[in-house]
Amino acid sequence: MITIEDVIIPAPGPGQILDFKAMFGRDLPVEMEIGTGKGGFLLKRARSLPDRWFFGVEWANKYLRYAADRMVRWGVNNVRLMRADARHLVVHHLPPECLTILHIYHPDPWPKKRHHKRRLIQSAFISAAVNALLPGGRIAVQTDHEEYFQQIREVVGREKRLTVVPFDIPEAGIVGGRVESNYEIKYLREGRSIFQIALEKTG
Ligand SMILES: C[S@@+](CC[C@H](N)C(=O)[O-])C[C@H]1O[C@@H](n2cnc3c(N)ncnc32)[C@H](O)[C@@H]1O
Repeated sequence: MITIEDVIIPAPGPGQILDFKAMFGRDLPVEMEIGTGKGGFLLKRARSLPDRWFFGVEWANKYLRYAADRMVRWGVNNVRLMRADARHLVVHHLPPECLTILHIYHPDPWPKKRHHKRRLIQSAFISAAVNALLPGGRIAVQTDHEEYFQQIREVVGREKRLTVVPFDIPEAGIVGGRVESNYEIKYLREGRSIFQIALEKTG
């Protein structure tokens, strides 16, 4: 039986590069989610796609443990979670060409102008994220914050290796093409707008 200790793996030390094969025990496509929150997206997606590996990063310990507990209760063994600052992890600790999809749903918007520098999606982060994508890999970003969305579009637009592709891609095993995140469900219920963009590593 899978335990919380199996699901939560330690963050890498300084200079250490993540080894997904060692982490999961097998060489399979890896999807990463940044800011997993309570883990609803990963739980549903991992259950629908048992032949893929899912790696979630969350810096709030409370949510990380909540999400890990859900994986244990559902017996989901193709998810690993890590407590880390995802920006630092992507820039310094991911090997090249290791990810099929990078999911980023409702990243903290930091709405005050003086806090914009704390936003996750900035040029250095996107450049490192693209290095980590396999050729043909995707980044999917979704937010409820229109002004942040405009900034995201500008930042990804400057990255020449990315091409905009449809957000919803039908996938075998997933009814409707994708699953919703916890915040997405909440915001859609409240009638709020959701802004989405997906990009493929082409060049
Ligand atoms: C608004 S919530 C969205 C949660 C989930 N993605 C969803 O859509 O339901 C943002 C989450 O990202 C986490 N987070 C924000 N910045 C982070 C970072 N740099 N590294 C890891 N987690 C981060 C927060 O702790 C929070 O759980």
